[in-house]
Amino acid sequence: MPKDVAMRVALVGLGDIGLSAHLPALQRHPAIELVQLVDPDPDRRAAVAELDIQVAAELEAGVDGVVLATPPWVTPELTVDYTRAGLFVLAEKPVATSMEAARIYDKLEPAERGRVQVGLTYRHDPAIGQLATWIANGTLGETVLVRAHIYDEPYRPDDAEHTARITATLEHGSPVVHEGAHVFDWLTHLLGGRPIAVDDRWAVRTRAGLPAPNLTGARLSYPGGHQALVEFGWFTSALPRCELSVLGDRGLATLDGFTFALTLTTAESEEVVRFPGDRMTRCFDRQLDRFVALHNGVPAEPSLDDGIAALRTAQLVAGRAE
Ligand SMILES: NC(=O)c1ccc[n+]([C@@H]2O[C@H](COP(=O)([O-])OP(=O)(O)OC[C@H]3O[C@@H](n4cnc5c(N)ncnc54)[C@H](O)[C@@H]3O)[C@@H](O)[C@H]2O)c1
Repeated sequence: MPKDVAMRVALVGLGDIGLSAHLPALQRHPAIELVQLVDPDPDRRAAVAELDIQVAAELEAGVDGVVLATPPWVTPELTVDYTRAGLFVLAEKPVATSMEAARIYDKLEPAERGRVQVGLTYRHDPAIGQLATWIANGTLGETVLVRAHIYDEPYRPDDAEHTARITATLEHGSPVVHEGAHVFDWLTHLLGGRPIAVDDRWAVRTRAGLPAPNLTGARLSYPGGHQALVEFGWFTSALPRCELSVLGDRGLATLDGFTFALTLTTAESEEVVRFPGDRMTRCFDRQLDRFVALHNGVPAEPSLDDGIAALRTAQLVAGRAE
């Protein structure tokens, strides 16, 4: 079916998430024409040479917006340059690797900031909306304890590309900076506000030579008396289960960290809620719906301020003073 194009978009950054998730989502979207693929690395450009799309080392004119699937130590400067050039920007999370690095966003005028959407992709999942409803309407009780166990990126020394990519990412901060971008955004969204305090925190390096602690955790207080216990871990040979659970006086809700299947257990029953399609496809599609809406004048969700707030909490947990 021909597309009813509202927006001409370039994908900048042709690495892992760029090619595996953003590229197919941009190609699928009925209101987006993907017109440029940009990466300074010639090998990355060669990987997409067979697609019928212009490929370049630097962004060229003729687009309304860009999706930045670039490393977080590159994304801030590109976001500032492109929004100042009048473009809409969907920028991958985290918005920077530290609050110091995020100061570059202070250069933006309000109208420019307003053109930035942050790639906190899983905020768009209906499972997060369902969980927010159960918390807000008291299905689980008045006050809840959230336990977030976020474990990913197993250590596979025989996979040189993965080992190099995760080691390079750790050089720019512990997993809490990278995964916390998502989790602290969900917690604010679920618990009705930003955390009041980081009450406690810990970090462990499971082997010598790692550039940052690969296991980190904390206890946080939220408005309304809600508490959160969070753990983030990467790069061990085996990983614990990745899940988020919300426990209150009346019930327990569990979110599978990979499928986003939800289980609600109360004294009366157990119910499993699954949403159609796989989590990645539906979230990347919904994220682009929001990007087109932003281009049409609807405020960004999640906004640059949401991304910075999640980074601020992650940095407090990581223990680096602002
Ligand atoms: N939203 C999500 O669910 C999700 C999932 C995975 C990764 N991410 C985020 O996406 C970002 C990219 O992660 P990745 O794993 O794909 O990394 P990656 O290293 O595989 O890819 C990054 C790409 O950016 C390119 N690049 C570097 N500098 C550039 C520049 N100045 N201009 C254009 N391109 C440039 C690199 O050549 C590389 O191809 C990270 O911030 C990561 O946290 C988000």
